[in-house]
Amino acid sequence: MLFDIKTYTERRARLRRQVGHGLILLPGNNESPMNYPANTYKFHQDSTFLYFFGQHRDGLCGVIDCDSGEEWLVGDDISLDDIVWFGAVASVADMAAECGVAKSGPMSQLQMLVDTARRQGRTIHFLPPYRHDWMIQLMDLTGIHPRDQKGAASLALIHAVVEQRARKSVGEVADIERAMETGYEMHTTAMRMCRPGVTEQEIAGRLAGIALSRGNMASFQTILSMHGEIQHGFPSARQLEAGRLMLCDCGAETNEGYCSDNTRVTPVSGHFTPRQRDIYEAVLDAHDTVAAMAAPGVKWWDCHFAAARVITEHLKAIGLMRGNTDDALEAGAHAMFFVHGLGHMMGMDVHDMEGLGQIYVGFDDEVRPRLDQFGTNCLRCGRRMQEGFVMTDEPGIYFIPALIDDWRASGHNAEFINFDLVEQYRDFGGIRLEDDLLITADGCRYLGSKRIPIRPDEVEAFIERERQ
Ligand code: GLY
Ligand code: MN
Ligand code: MN
Repeated sequence: MLFDIKTYTERRARLRRQVGHGLILLPGNNESPMNYPANTYKFHQDSTFLYFFGQHRDGLCGVIDCDSGEEWLVGDDISLDDIVWFGAVASVADMAAECGVAKSGPMSQLQMLVDTARRQGRTIHFLPPYRHDWMIQLMDLTGIHPRDQKGAASLALIHAVVEQRARKSVGEVADIERAMETGYEMHTTAMRMCRPGVTEQEIAGRLAGIALSRGNMASFQTILSMHGEIQHGFPSARQLEAGRLMLCDCGAETNEGYCSDNTRVTPVSGHFTPRQRDIYEAVLDAHDTVAAMAAPGVKWWDCHFAAARVITEHLKAIGLMRGNTDDALEAGAHAMFFVHGLGHMMGMDVHDMEGLGQIYVGFDDEVRPRLDQFGTNCLRCGRRMQEGFVMTDEPGIYFIPALIDDWRASGHNAEFINFDLVEQYRDFGGIRLEDDLLITADGCRYLGSKRIPIRPDEVEAFIERERQ
């Protein structure tokens, strides 16, 4: 376990107090077969289960009775056959004791616990499920069809989990810093390898090796592409071409489950063209603006629009946008270029707690998501920052031919966009620059002991010095 027993017992006691009444179910993940049962994807524990119980084994479920205070860890002990193939692991009783849970039992006990609580008319609290095996198990336990389970998830439990996991402790930040160290190696390796003729997948493969050799795995599937305009542009077998940009968005996850998430853009020929540099500087200025303003009490919504404003001003100076900046922002014209939200919480999940529902994680009664406008409808966060939040700061500018054609054909925001000049950027790709911020008592700081080169001159000097 990453932390001592007291950390886990205190986290669960706080959860219990906050939820108030009923029975809380917190399942760990099961193994997930890839093409036949014994050939599984790499195991990944559920983050909320890991947060409250600290155990990495598959096939477990935590149960917390809010009224009596009783806690169980249920799961089946492994058989002799399993020991032959996988080696011995601690018994469920030992794992329960390790994280301060008094009671343990086989998985079959879960049904009895839930049945008893249901007979007593008590609430069964569960989070929105995201794995199909658990959805089936949950249907057996509660009678709720998988189709209805997301809607039946406990808001009290969601809010209580978000409340705790959103503010990172000193120990959690220390583990994120470990992920950042690996992320630094991944990104600088990509920059060293970036040259004409090398394939995207050759670089991405090396990055995966770094993540695996220093921690659990990459924190998400690496995005590495000359087509930076494709938001999830996964690496292909294409060779990098001189004159293009390589966008690399990747991160690491530590053995204990905390993540990093950075994005850098490297010129394949080693130098940015003036046109590339202008767009790069616009994104960097937006990024810096956010890093200068993020602090407790500041709304992330305002950070997003501060970045959008900087991007709009730069695009106007280049000639790609025009008109009154306030009106352009209100109309959402910038979103043809800056198509996504500024950033998201990061922790054990790279998009922290996204599975619980962004409306509960990133918004509150004061700041509601706005779903009626392209670009603004996909913000992952808007709420006021608090000390201990970890946020990604990741503005971008993209030239997406299909989107350009769509807006041009319909005349959408034509008064703010110079489509004739935009045409000349159709093959540009995209630029995103992403670093991770810890909100501190009086502002914020970058996570990671070394910053991955980001200023255009630094990037060019790094390539000149270190390219392989
Ligand atoms: N691609 C994951 C992210 O940066 O949010
Ligand atoms: Mn990223
Ligand atoms: Mn991110």
